[in-house]
Amino acid sequence: MEEYGSGTSTMPAGTAQAAGTLLDTLNMLRARELAVITQYMRHHYQITTAEGLAMADEFKDIAITEMKHAEMLGERIDFLGGDPTTQPSEIGRDARTLEQMASMDLASENDAVRLYRDAVKQADSEGDVTTRRMLESILGDEENHVNRFQMMLGR
Ligand SMILES: [Fe+2]
Ligand SMILES: [Fe+2]
Repeated sequence: MEEYGSGTSTMPAGTAQAAGTLLDTLNMLRARELAVITQYMRHHYQITTAEGLAMADEFKDIAITEMKHAEMLGERIDFLGGDPTTQPSEIGRDARTLEQMASMDLASENDAVRLYRDAVKQADSEGDVTTRRMLESILGDEENHVNRFQMMLGR
């Protein structure tokens, strides 16, 4: 059984690394957003117990925020002359219990925070103020998601 919730895992939806151009980075981030949308919606639908009802709404709400992130990234990629990817990165599939689901998702969020921080620095170094501001805004959401998944896990 795979260990979840270390906070340092790069799986799932976390294997891509920032590299290459800013457009490459934005598309890598979009691929991850597309993956976690599906991952969190799956967890929303997987919950069948009464104790999980409040968590189900959390998974749903966070998945919808990730959808907004994917759209923001897509619009920015398009504006910059790129082609917004439609291919999600790897989606986590083997969580069964509520704790496994939340731990898997917390790991994805910790990865997201790290990757968005790196992307903010990259946009800043390239003098792209608008992209940097967008990434900072998304980063704030990801930090909020870390907090919410930690709360689900009682951490
Ligand atoms: Fe996101
Ligand atoms: Fe998130």
